[in-house]
Amino acid sequence: MRLAVFASGTGSNFQALVQAVRSGELAASIDLLVCDRPGAAVIEKAKLARVETLVLSPKNFENKQAYETKLLESLRSKQIDLVVLAGYMRLVGPTLLGEYKERILNIHPSLLPAFPGLHAIEKAYEVKVPETGVTVHLVDEGMDTGPILAQESLTLLSNESLEGLEARIHEVEHRLYPKTVQRYILQLSQMPNR
Ligand code: GRF
Repeated sequence: MRLAVFASGTGSNFQALVQAVRSGELAASIDLLVCDRPGAAVIEKAKLARVETLVLSPKNFENKQAYETKLLESLRSKQIDLVVLAGYMRLVGPTLLGEYKERILNIHPSLLPAFPGLHAIEKAYEVKVPETGVTVHLVDEGMDTGPILAQESLTLLSNESLEGLEARIHEVEHRLYPKTVQRYILQLSQMPNR
């Protein structure tokens, strides 16, 4: 199973996936990192991990379709089976969704459907929900709306700082994402005609 990871920022989830491949927990190869933000820290992490990078600025393309057509060319040429979004700060459009139906996963730092979109951890913290967590889901055309594959919840601690909560959320992400991707890969391999 050949994976492409899409990321826009720090890349701690990318790193967790790389480590899971190395340890054998994730039976796949990461063959491409796609980044839409030149200069993002994840690019350096990919270079250190010897993962090929494709860095594109969407603003240099005429429209989203042209940008995603370029991405598709790379995904096809590298025979990518599954796309794993890890902090990719962009909605996936019909061009990619059409070709990778049910083959694009995302991780989101809340218990969806609560707090979709940006700043999910801060929003949950400000509202003082009793619990929040992490969701891994399939990507559809909506914002964090696709079918849920896995969720793990966390109880907010009394007097916990926002930074403390963020750290605990990321810890869960780094465990839950590789585990869920692996489970999904097994599920795909058991489906006929794949
Ligand atoms: C994570 O919290 C993820 O859930 C969200 O974006 C963040 C990315 O963090 N979609 P990192 O770049 O993987 O460190």
